[in-house]
Amino acid sequence: MCGIVGYIGNQNALPILLKGLEHLEYRGYDSAGVACLNHQKDSLFVIKEKGKLSALKEQLKGIHLLSNAGIGHTRWATHGEPSRANAHPHTDPHNRIALIHNGIIENYSSLKSDLRRKGVRFRSETDTEVAVHMIASFYKKGNLTEAFRKAVEKLHGFFAFVVLSKDEPGQLLAFKRSNPLAIGLGDGENFIASDVTAFLPYTNRVLYLEDDEFAVVTREKVTITSLKTGKVVNRKPSTIRWSISQAQKGGYPHFMLKEIFEQPRVLEETISKRLRKGENIFFDTLSKKIDRKFKKIQKIYLVSCGTAYHAGLVGNYMLGKYVRIPVEATVSSEFRYEDPVIGSKDLVILITQSGETADTLAALRLAKEKKALTLAIVNVVGSTIARDADAMIYTQAGPEIGVASTKAYTAQLETLLLFTLYLARLRKTINADDFSKLLREFKKIPGYAAAVLKQAKAIETCARKHYHRRNFLYLGRGYNFPTALEGALKLKEISYAHAHGYAAGEMKHGPIALIDHEQPVICIAPESKTYDKMISNIEEIRAREGIVIAIGTEKDKNLMSLADDFFSIPKTHEVFSSILTVLVLQLFAYKVAVLNGRDVDQPRNLAKSVTVE
Ligand code: G6P
Repeated sequence: MCGIVGYIGNQNALPILLKGLEHLEYRGYDSAGVACLNHQKDSLFVIKEKGKLSALKEQLKGIHLLSNAGIGHTRWATHGEPSRANAHPHTDPHNRIALIHNGIIENYSSLKSDLRRKGVRFRSETDTEVAVHMIASFYKKGNLTEAFRKAVEKLHGFFAFVVLSKDEPGQLLAFKRSNPLAIGLGDGENFIASDVTAFLPYTNRVLYLEDDEFAVVTREKVTITSLKTGKVVNRKPSTIRWSISQAQKGGYPHFMLKEIFEQPRVLEETISKRLRKGENIFFDTLSKKIDRKFKKIQKIYLVSCGTAYHAGLVGNYMLGKYVRIPVEATVSSEFRYEDPVIGSKDLVILITQSGETADTLAALRLAKEKKALTLAIVNVVGSTIARDADAMIYTQAGPEIGVASTKAYTAQLETLLLFTLYLARLRKTINADDFSKLLREFKKIPGYAAAVLKQAKAIETCARKHYHRRNFLYLGRGYNFPTALEGALKLKEISYAHAHGYAAGEMKHGPIALIDHEQPVICIAPESKTYDKMISNIEEIRAREGIVIAIGTEKDKNLMSLADDFFSIPKTHEVFSSILTVLVLQLFAYKVAVLNGRDVDQPRNLAKSVTVE
């Protein structure tokens, strides 16, 4: 978590840093701060504030600082409460060196004790402050890079740092271990950030730092050195093809709403890019060698967190059905610690929007250590997981800014389904006829998604009836059991109401006790092989006077007659249904949150990219 940004060049640094931080606020918004070189006074200008970036901007009103180098930070608190004292940048006692950090220094406590014994006084409760005092303790004029290297060698954990010093004003120093850092290459100026969106308005040429690499960034040059070998690393820049307008709101009140409505287009683009002559599925990132390995695998693990975990659960049903192979979906934070029985005959699929989630990254490393074949299904181009896995497929959802994932989720579902059908063809577990039929239906899904979203007004009316309630139950079966989990997650993430997703068949083992005339139950019941079972569950809810909000197949009179509110998806094969039903639940959660006056794009305590364990 935390967003970090740095700038050095010929423009005024402060506005560039603040703009960059706006794009990084999804990574945390407990506090924000900047440090810039104040050339006139030969000093560092440091200002920080508790709360969102807007609070920092308020502090900066009326301050006209001309500076061509600076660093900025937006925090998601790990060590120490959100406060001005704990906000970054942190500085040494003489205010010569300023540092920003994303990650956790695991041995900070013992280092802090050592430093205290040497007389260092700490001004915050953060682990980060240790790093800047360590640098200061090794620092003698002119050796900042060396002092930084020595300090980093003493630190355990995972982190990305950027350092600025008034004594060596012509450079920014950066280091990365586990947490991401990208360097944007401009003309007479260079940028550093946790994520390319922070500098995309200025340049799309990027160098990604790898683990345990330092960078010395001046306005003209970037020099990368490996901590392990001490040698200079030559790396070719990549070009980012996203435009910055893709990452802006485009007239919608919130990014989340924009991203919900982008889904038909994202689904369309994802399919069209993966179909060759409209008849075959292909992935440009998968080689023949990887295909040969896919043919031999005996078990598949789907490993992910949060919303991506729900995509993994849907993938579990898809792969099991069409590839006829044992599949297990699990959350990364469990997988990495459960000593999984995996080896060279297993395929571990990591699903992740950001490609940086700490637990998923650790799961990837574990799987590689155990010699399993690893495949990443990732949205963010060039992210660590995308680069480190044996094979990789991009989900092509474009930048997702809203903290609650929407378009990245449906793109994950679609990609998992495309991959399922691809693997089924490769392993000959699906015949040509069934494959073509499914593909024909698949192509209709983006249009169907647009039709589902047309119910936005009716969904809002339903949300108005229930937005004051504090408890919601979501039920589904088969492909739509994960939809129930995802619908409940969306609602609690952004509205702070309690919402619980359950497998409908389990209702009788507990949740049924909750049902009375005040309990809304969202029942996801499109046509499927468990449709009749869902209808029985709904009858049981009605018999106890529960409020039924149903999502079913269009023109389902039976379901309509049982429901207080009914939303539909077009008639389709059940394997596609979860891509469509979830759209109703995203909109419902969004409307409930807005009616409650919540901060939809930046819900409390959450961050989009969770780079801590
Ligand atoms: C956070 C985000 C979720 C996301 C999860 C996993 O909790 O708020 O939206 O699903 O992390 O993130 P990933 O980037 O790995 O998909």
